[in-house]
Amino acid sequence: MKQTFKVAGFLALTGLIASCKSEQKLADYQVIPLPQEIAVLQNNPFILGGDVKIIYPEGNEKMHKNALFLAEYLKKATGKDFAIETGTEGKNAIVLQLGLQSENPEAYQLKVGSEGITIAAPSEAGVFYGIQTLRKSIPVAVGAQISLPAAEINDYPRFGYRGVHFDVARHFFTVDEVKSFIDMMTLHNMNRMHWHLTEDQGWRLEIKKYPKLTEIGSKRTETVIGRNSGKYDGIPYGGFYTQEQAKEIVEYAAQRYVTVIPEIDLPGHMQAALAAYPHLGCTGGPYEVWREWGVSDNVLCAGNDSTLTFIDDILTEVMEIFPSSYIHIGGDECPKTQWEKCPKCQARIKSLGLKSDDKHSKEERLQSVIINHAEKFLNEHGRQIIGWDEILEGGLAPNATVMSWRGEAGGIEAAKQKHDVLMTPNTYLYFDYYQTKDVDNEPLAIGGYLPLERVYSYEPMPASLTPEEQKYIVGVQANHWTEYMPTFAQVQYMALPRWAALSEIQWTMPAKKNYQDFLKRLPRLIELYNAEGYNYAKHVFDVTAEFNPNPVDGTLDVKLSTLDGAPIHYTLDGTEPTASSPVCDSILKIKENGTLQAVAIRSAGNSRIVSEKVVFSKSSMKSIVANQPINKQYEFNGAPTLVDGLKGNGNYKTGRWIAFYKNDMDVTIDMQQRTEIACVEISTCVEKGDWVFDARGLSIEVSEDGKNFTKVASEDYPAMTAADRNGIYNHKLTFAPVKARYVKVVALSEQSIPDWHGGMGKPGFLFVDEITVN
Ligand code: ACM
Ligand code: ZN
Repeated sequence: MKQTFKVAGFLALTGLIASCKSEQKLADYQVIPLPQEIAVLQNNPFILGGDVKIIYPEGNEKMHKNALFLAEYLKKATGKDFAIETGTEGKNAIVLQLGLQSENPEAYQLKVGSEGITIAAPSEAGVFYGIQTLRKSIPVAVGAQISLPAAEINDYPRFGYRGVHFDVARHFFTVDEVKSFIDMMTLHNMNRMHWHLTEDQGWRLEIKKYPKLTEIGSKRTETVIGRNSGKYDGIPYGGFYTQEQAKEIVEYAAQRYVTVIPEIDLPGHMQAALAAYPHLGCTGGPYEVWREWGVSDNVLCAGNDSTLTFIDDILTEVMEIFPSSYIHIGGDECPKTQWEKCPKCQARIKSLGLKSDDKHSKEERLQSVIINHAEKFLNEHGRQIIGWDEILEGGLAPNATVMSWRGEAGGIEAAKQKHDVLMTPNTYLYFDYYQTKDVDNEPLAIGGYLPLERVYSYEPMPASLTPEEQKYIVGVQANHWTEYMPTFAQVQYMALPRWAALSEIQWTMPAKKNYQDFLKRLPRLIELYNAEGYNYAKHVFDVTAEFNPNPVDGTLDVKLSTLDGAPIHYTLDGTEPTASSPVCDSILKIKENGTLQAVAIRSAGNSRIVSEKVVFSKSSMKSIVANQPINKQYEFNGAPTLVDGLKGNGNYKTGRWIAFYKNDMDVTIDMQQRTEIACVEISTCVEKGDWVFDARGLSIEVSEDGKNFTKVASEDYPAMTAADRNGIYNHKLTFAPVKARYVKVVALSEQSIPDWHGGMGKPGFLFVDEITVN
């Protein structure tokens, strides 16, 4: 044992671990979310041998469970079984203790010395987070000997409410999948699962007093395909949780210090409930469980007394299942169109004397009446409500916590009104949005663009609030609406690794946050994703390729990089790159036709392959100037894009195409020496719906001096018709061979969009890519 310590200490000091052949692996406390204070000490490390015991205080069942979790995590990482014993101390042991003094109940202290490890906290939850940090510090290395540097970590979360929301109504997820969702939360130190259980498209919770809610309301006959395409899949869809199953999930979560907050979304998003109980709607129906996405006009009738009874009855059963102090009652996106027409709703407005003013309509006031009713009922039973920020609209219920989703404005307003706020802005934390711009190569998502870096950059404390008002910002949450997440694998893909970024917003103090540093720590968390079999998005691990045509050398200069400096292997001959392909560690200079393929190789797995076909013509990589301006919005890398040997695909927004608007594409290429040419070809990309049209003409002029040009070919093209397709158009002009140094290429843009189009009479965009001169 003693000798092993020395070896480990020596290796740690000299940093030879990586090249050493023995199975030594070093723990690293730079985990995600980053602990507040990490002091690595010079003392001898702790060796995690198979004879290490886990010790917890006798008679504390939660601590016993903590010990079991730790043993399970360690077994996964090391392959070893660790014995669990009761007690308060021990050598060669990991001791779990209560009694740490801290104001924050979720704080913990993790101490590592050569004799053992101690995790101490004021609460069992704190110990659990210490265990999570320990688990993430240890590399996944079955069979290896793990050495933990001596250290003291003092840690606590920034926010008490660290949430994720899970919509199980648009799509249903099984009990096991929900448990897996909770396990994912645990890995990211999250502690609130906002469970969105009811929707227009399905009611997912058994309610004994209203059995049709699940008999009828949990099933839709089919589901719309894509983004409300008007086409349906013809496949019946359904699912719900029995009360027993919901309680099982609550218990599973509680063991992992996760509180389940149920949401019954009212008075809108109720079409599935109305399908089951049509008398609760303004029109009386009939209604169907909705088969498409969006916000239904069919909402609970606010003038109907049985609506209030319904709400009370539902909430009564919800409270029996969910011990959470918060119950979410929705309140978002409730169209008032039916209330405006409904005699019962209007009679209630009248009898209550509700008036519109410059801030609120009388129907918005009526919504507040419903929300206030639900709040009063829940408050009387010792519970508190959360509502989406629309609950501000008719005047806020007295004790409501506001979940700010339409950006941060609602949260700021609520904090000013001295209400607690949970920040979940769609501008940063809607994880149903895309995480890449390359949407053509992605599973369908709702839209938007929230890459990892933007998520990470989110600071939930609005600077416009005073320090006193900022105290009302009590939590941060990301939302997972599942219209476009039909499988749990897709939920994981949209969540991970964005949860890693979210976890640092929720846990780590802002002064310690740093995106570049976060990226360095991320691959080790990804190893755990791999070990757990999670399906995560890999965009951030991809190879980034920067292409620069180099007129001096006549080469396409390619700079390949990765976020973490992982080795990049490449090929140019069309074969798939592997670990034995050459490594690109400087600028790659491409001088002839070929396909560049590059992959980053890491122990956690390979990146996706970047692939680019490069085709040379006589004009490739030559100097080029634009004689008329390129449209600023679509300028990208400017005129050299036109001669870089890389062709745009059918999507004009990728950066491969550049745009001209109100003027023409008018460029001059310097061939560097007199060159014989006989043909010029260009491509355009058309997307008529976006006012992007084909060229109206093409002309070629040549010159010896770059000043006096002679036209050698030209052609006009007709205006596009409504029937013409979108996509790529090629235009080629051939002429008697001439020798020239300079070639001017002019493609005329559409100056007046034809009558059949909504933009008639206005200019259209012209998107051009590769000009090839031969
Ligand atoms: C919401 O996204 N409708 C709260
Ligand atoms: Zn009504």
